[in-house]
Order: sequence, then structure tokens, then C-alpha cells
Amino acid sequence: MVFRVGIVGASGYTGGELLRILANHPGVEITYVTSREYVGKPVHYVHYNLRGYYRGLKFVEFDVNGVSRNSDVVFLTLPHGVSVNYVPKLLEVGLRVVDLSADFRLKKPELYEFWYGFKHPYPDLLSKAVYGLPEIHRDELRNTGLIASPGCNATAVILSLLPLAKTGVVDLSKVVADVKAGSSEGGSKPSQGSHHPEREGAIRPYEAEGHRHAAEVEQELTYLTGSEVNVTLIPHAVSSVRGVLTSTHLWFKDYIDDIDLMKLFVQTYSKEPFVRFVKTSPPGYPDPKYVVGSNYVDVSYAVERRVRRLTVFAALDNLMKGAAGQAVQAFNIMMGFEEGLGLKYPPLKP
Ligand SMILES: NC(=O)c1ccc[n+]([C@@H]2O[C@H](COP(=O)([O-])OP(=O)(O)OC[C@H]3O[C@@H](n4cnc5c(N)ncnc54)[C@H](OP(=O)(O)O)[C@@H]3O)[C@@H](O)[C@H]2O)c1
Repeated sequence: MVFRVGIVGASGYTGGELLRILANHPGVEITYVTSREYVGKPVHYVHYNLRGYYRGLKFVEFDVNGVSRNSDVVFLTLPHGVSVNYVPKLLEVGLRVVDLSADFRLKKPELYEFWYGFKHPYPDLLSKAVYGLPEIHRDELRNTGLIASPGCNATAVILSLLPLAKTGVVDLSKVVADVKAGSSEGGSKPSQGSHHPEREGAIRPYEAEGHRHAAEVEQELTYLTGSEVNVTLIPHAVSSVRGVLTSTHLWFKDYIDDIDLMKLFVQTYSKEPFVRFVKTSPPGYPDPKYVVGSNYVDVSYAVERRVRRLTVFAALDNLMKGAAGQAVQAFNIMMGFEEGLGLKYPPLKP
């Protein structure tokens, strides 16, 4: 079965990454791509890496009738606060939707006012959307028409914490996540801080007094544990283009020996197709360099018994497992495909 797929906001980085992945997906034909700036231009006019692919496919202006005539499923790769106005129209005409923005990730409408500064206009849809993290919501993804694809930093932090979440061995009321992020996290339109001359060589904290992805991490860990979780998440801009590394600091509440701790990670992830537990294999700790270009997330941990501290690590490619790759993984589950279809290739080296 081949589904017709549209991408709204296809001229940006995550839209381009979806086009790159889906070019070789046997269950997908890309039929509709939108942009405001590049109407009438071919896909490779913006995405030079896709020269020779998608011949004849040109960007069009969004039109709900056009997208509904030409697609069965739509990916939205629009800024937050923009997507929210498109999703209900697409659902109304019977399309399935995968939204990569934050607009349907949070379940409590009031959180949008606090974290995103707008009153959510469609609170009823928040309960219908499934947070698109297969490692937690795989079964719900099989039965939904609306996927809210997770944030990149949130994905890394959640997946590094997941093995511990239900055990009670760490204190989840004080979680401190330190994040290093490459510049493509900021999207394709440069700002003062992300413009290359300002960004190259930088190691700079940003949004250090409340990064929005903390809300997703708190929501998902509370869902898993049933108790209050408090997270502070501080991203740092670093020089790389792609890649996220999270080091999340936790403190032990109860004793767990080394073997049982390792078993938690091994057992949680032994059957997950895109999570690699890298504690025992060199180089020892996750490094975005060795996941870039792939849908893998590498996780590990370090214990410092002297101060009862456990640090969990995760590395992923923000445009892959942090965005487009994960969205395709969730799409595969929703559409009844094998979960890894079109996504099974190793990362780059060097
Ligand atoms: N970058 C990442 O690592 C990452 C990871 C996870 C999730 N996300 C999320 O994915 C979404 C897309 O991110 P991105 O990095 O791909 O951003 P981007 O490179 O800036 O692309 C955004 C796209 O949206 C279109 N657009 C912008 N403003 C619009 C508006 N007011 N109305 C209609 N179209 C508009 C732009 O196209 P035209 O200007 O050509 O119309 C462009 O195609 C965001 O919500 C982001 O938070 C990003």
C-alpha cells in the first residue's frame, strides 16, 4: 500500500529532512509540498541535497482543498503557534496528521499560556493527540489520526530517564538536564544569535530560566510515574550543525547495585529498534557524532556513589530521532507499516 503524503512548511529544515527520508520509503509518495516563499519552485531549488529526486514536484501555497485532494496524510513542519491553526482544518477534511511543532504536545491547555504565551484555541484536540514517542506510546499510535511529534531535547532527556522512571530509585522531584545543541535546532531562518559568524565557536547557554521542553519531560514522566516530576533543562548552543547531547543529573533515593542498574537499561531497550544502550561498548558515552544522519538515540549513564549522583546521557540527531526520523517512525506505526520502514541505516563516521 502506498499513501499520498503532503508536507506543509516543506522548505524548512525538518521539512527537508522528511523529504530526504521519505525519498526511499516504499509506502509513501510525496504529492504536495507547501511554502510561502518558494511557490512554483522545484524542491531542489531549496533542498540542494535532493537534486535528482522529486522531479516535477513544486512548492505550492497551502490550500485545504488542494491538500485534501492530493494527500492521505499530512506532516506539518511549521513554527509553534502557526500549526495550531492548520491542524483542525486538516482533520476536518479527513486527513491523518503528524505535527512536528509543539502545538499539540501538551495535554493541559493552561500550559500553553505559561510556556508558549498563547491561549490554546482547540483544547479538545489536545486529549485526542498522541505524543509521538513510540518507546512510551506505541499502542496509542496505532489508533490515532493526530500525532504530536516530540521536541528534540525532550526526546533525548525522556529516553535517558525512561529505564529509571518507574523504579523509585532516583528523586524525580529534582531533575537537572544539561543540553548541548547544534545550530539546526533553531530552524532555517537565521536570527542574530544563530547567524553563522555569531554561532561558530560558541558555547552559550540560552533560555536558561525555563526552556519549554521541560514541560514535555515533566508531562511524560508524570504520566509514567503518577507522581510530581520537576525538571530544569538548560540548553547550550555549540558549534555543530546537527546533534544534541543531554547530561541529566539525578540523585539516588534508594540503593541499587551496579548490576541491577545496568539490567534496567538493557531490559528497557533490548527490543527497541532505535535506542542503543552504549555503556559497555567503546567509546563508552553517547556522542552525537556517532548518531548523526540516523534515527538512533544512544543512551548511557555514570554513577558517582560518593555524592549519591547518577547522570544519564543521550545523544541524537535533532533532525532525525529529534524530529523527522521520529515522526516517520510514529507515522509507520499509525499507518500499520513496520516501525523501521525507510529508517534503517547506520549513522555516519567520521
Ligand atoms: N529544527 C529542529 O531540530 C526541530 C526538532 C524538532 C521539532 N522542530 C519543530 O519543527 C517545526 C519546524 O522546524 P524547522 O526547524 O523545520 O523550522 P524552519 O526551518 O524555520 O521551517 C519552518 C517552515 O515553516 C514555514 N513557515 C514559517 N512561518 C510560517 C507561517 N507563519 N505560516 C506558514 N508557513 C510558515 C516556512 O516556509 P516558508 O517561509 O517558505 O513559507 C518553513 O518551510 C517547528 O515547530 C520546530 O519547533 C524542529
